[in-house]
Amino acid sequence: MKLTTLNTIGFLVVLLFFIIYLISQNSTNRPQQNNKMVHDKKDSSLYFIGQNIYNDSCSQCHARKGHNHNFLNNIFTRVDTSYFKKYLTRQDSLIRVKDKYALSVKESYGNMGNSHNFKFDTLELFGLVEYLK
Ligand code: HEC
Repeated sequence: MKLTTLNTIGFLVVLLFFIIYLISQNSTNRPQQNNKMVHDKKDSSLYFIGQNIYNDSCSQCHARKGHNHNFLNNIFTRVDTSYFKKYLTRQDSLIRVKDKYALSVKESYGNMGNSHNFKFDTLELFGLVEYLK
């Protein structure tokens, strides 16, 4: 074989490996794109904090999001976010000072004995707001 033919074959082999390398790079890129999606979800982590709390601490009484019955649909058209936070952490105080809204909701649900006196921190409360709005 001539040297130039060998060179050509060598060149083609290198080219082939290069193409295989490119293809394998492409497929390892895919999981990276998935990671990016996971990362994007983390960017709205407040929503997920709220969702977890809701599923753990609220959904045994309030229907899950998407179910119509007794879900806190449009809650922020009825109360603002600062009242919502007060309601969740100090409902007993609101009732004690005869807060009109708290009393009327209590009454409309048949004056049940439960109270929302959760010990959520600021992040958890913002999470719930983000999830429910
Ligand atoms: C033990 C059952 C129970 C749990 C757990 C519970 N709630 Fe409630 N929630 C009620 C009841 C019953 C009412 C109606 C008012 C009352 O009786 O206190 C209510 C009322 C509310 C209201 C006022 C509704 C309105 O229309 O203005 C909000 C807001 C609320 N709940 C949010 C939550 C959130 C958020 C959680 C979870 C962190 C939660 N609740 C957990 C039973 C529960």
